[in-house]
Amino acid sequence: MPGDKSISHRSLLLGGLATGETRVEGLLEGEDVLRTADAMRALGADIRRLGDGSWLARGNGVGGLLEPEDTLDFGNAGTGVRLMMGLAAGHGLTVTYDGDASLRKRPMGRILTPLKLMGARVIDCVEGERLPLTLAGPADTIPIEYRLPVASAQVKSAVLLAGLDCAGETVVIEPEETRDHTERMLTHFGADISVTQDAGGKRIVLKGRPELKGRDVVVPADPSSAAFPLVAGLLVPGSEVRLESVMVNLTRAGLLTSLEEMGANIARENLRELGGEPVCDLVVKASALKGIEVPPERAPSMIDEYPVLAVAASFAQGDTVMRGLSELRVKESDRLAAVAAGLAANGVRHTIEGDDLIVHGTGEVAGGGTVETHLDHRIAMAFLVMGLASKEPVTVDDGTMIATSFPAFAGLMKGLGALIEEAVA
Ligand code: S3P
Repeated sequence: MPGDKSISHRSLLLGGLATGETRVEGLLEGEDVLRTADAMRALGADIRRLGDGSWLARGNGVGGLLEPEDTLDFGNAGTGVRLMMGLAAGHGLTVTYDGDASLRKRPMGRILTPLKLMGARVIDCVEGERLPLTLAGPADTIPIEYRLPVASAQVKSAVLLAGLDCAGETVVIEPEETRDHTERMLTHFGADISVTQDAGGKRIVLKGRPELKGRDVVVPADPSSAAFPLVAGLLVPGSEVRLESVMVNLTRAGLLTSLEEMGANIARENLRELGGEPVCDLVVKASALKGIEVPPERAPSMIDEYPVLAVAASFAQGDTVMRGLSELRVKESDRLAAVAAGLAANGVRHTIEGDDLIVHGTGEVAGGGTVETHLDHRIAMAFLVMGLASKEPVTVDDGTMIATSFPAFAGLMKGLGALIEEAVA
């Protein structure tokens, strides 16, 4: 399984900032993460590839980032650009950011709102605060207390990274828990960060100007990528698939919980800790699934997994009700619309009510459709998985974006017995 994308981005951001050496093992060498490596180099960090998944980063300490000469182009990577906006603005840098057609459509206001409170200014941007835009950090970053208006780890992380080169304490209040890799990794690199919980949610307090020291990072396997062979193993009759060292951090484990409620046979073996994260081997066997109701409060812990859950739900008996999916509309594509169109193209009955998706599973899927992926890697992978178990094969219009998060996807799935044909344009 490829390394976790969220942790890979963060390891390069913090490793490229901290003084001394950071050795990263198991880095995801997907296009998104490589953009973050390039961006950190443009800000003066020494980042080198030593071998397969093995990287070395060395920085100049908090306060030691340089203004880049050129635009930072993040391609398809929302996490990369949003976290970098926080880190660079907090350092008082003026940076122009850009991305591909998908990233240019995605909202940046959710990051810019708290960064403006911290003193940053948007100098130039297209309508609606979309990319390309130029953001100027303040000479003295203002410490803020910020309550997240959306359940977004990217927003939380951008504020915390902006708080690094800031005299004073930066506080983020998180009413709904989101992935906590930034908090874990800041602690690992020596930052003074405290996390407490009360009725209002999680309160994260970061003391500014910490001395960050290079540390070794071991990246566990990405549960959001493991989701594809996992669901394939459930759907293809006779399958048994073992997925090794998959991260099962509770802030990322919503899909596993949902699939288990649907009746999936998934054994968690060899539970242990790897790189400060809980991991285990998942052994999945083909299972008859039934429809369930996924509670909306589970969404942050499985936000990237809804496309593949919708595919699993298509093969289940009965309705699977997924409510409160508004955040799916602002991912690499409008994932709610893309999933609905993909289901329709393949004969799966479903209902969209506002931001809710209900899949009416009948235990079998006709397939035979072509799915528009809208530059979205997870739409492509989810519907290729559908094609493994549908009556007719499923076609996706573009598989190139898969390389942003899971470059080895096709090879790995073929190794499990999948037949994936690539049309030559
Ligand atoms: C991520 C957070 C999530 C997720 C994305 C990775 C991260 O986005 O969808 O793929 O690494 O912080 P949001 O924070 O916008 O929900």
